[in-house]
Amino acid sequence: LTAALAAPATIKPGDVWPDNRGRHIQAHGGGILKVGDMFYWFGEDRSRDNERGLRYVACYSSTNLAQWTFRNQVLKLANPENFERGWVLERPKVFYNAKTKKFVMYMHIDGSRPGEGGGYQLARVGVAVCDTADGDYQYLKSFRPLGNESRDIGQFIDDDGAAYLISEDRPNGFHIYQLSDDYLNVAKDICLIRARLEGGAIVHYDGLYYCIGSALTGWDPNPNKYATAKSLAGPWSEFKGIAPPEANTYGAQSTMMLKISGTKTNCVIFMGDMWRPSTQWDSRYLWMPLEIGGGQLCLPAPRDWTLDIATGEAKIEQ
Ligand code: DGJ
Repeated sequence: LTAALAAPATIKPGDVWPDNRGRHIQAHGGGILKVGDMFYWFGEDRSRDNERGLRYVACYSSTNLAQWTFRNQVLKLANPENFERGWVLERPKVFYNAKTKKFVMYMHIDGSRPGEGGGYQLARVGVAVCDTADGDYQYLKSFRPLGNESRDIGQFIDDDGAAYLISEDRPNGFHIYQLSDDYLNVAKDICLIRARLEGGAIVHYDGLYYCIGSALTGWDPNPNKYATAKSLAGPWSEFKGIAPPEANTYGAQSTMMLKISGTKTNCVIFMGDMWRPSTQWDSRYLWMPLEIGGGQLCLPAPRDWTLDIATGEAKIEQ
């Protein structure tokens, strides 16, 4: 059987997701970057045997989104700026800058300064760079985008290649920031959506922008919501549920939406985390193809499914 005829591999929401080594994928709060035909999945590496003082980002690669090869712990960060113990690195997202040919990683850096008593008080983004997708990233700095608090971040790359950072700013709402030319800074606030949401994700589908976010309930699941707009700058519609409210997003929290433009159809995948706060290394993933179009977006109940990466067709098992 040639690769093209082989049946697509199955994606199993909520299961342990083994990589090529048979180890559960460590890419929590993650994001996907496509380079040529290769998808790279970056996320929080919360392996049990990680060194306690360091914070890790892992990178995996795949051509079909179902089978993932471990590439590298691309960031093993020691306390970079004299933060209080217990500082965090969450939700890393990697952009590729075609002008500088650099891979630029954004991450949520948080904690407190010594003596400030812990918690998520810093509310900053961190930036790291690398010459290759899966090399060792060099941490550059952290900052507050345009002076604003920033906790959960999301990544959106528009069809024209423009790169945006979605950022939760607790006092104000959800920002969609445009990055600077070299991606090393946040250049412009494209939109402030005045909604108390985190876990931000955006997709552009059939002429409309869809934005998803979750409520602010820590590691606990809640009904994630979506709004639509014709332009990233808004105006954005009211937020509505992506699934029946009692389903609590089937135990997941949004981290990204990924559009697959196939030869037959386009598929938008909801990527979420099913957090296990006391055993984070065992946190699971909920990836499902969304029912999307005409201003409506719905996350179907999780079932095993397959994706034909060439045609864009998703098949949910019955
Ligand atoms: C919810 C966020 O979405 C997660 O990334 C993490 O920051 C937790 N809160 C911490 O409670």
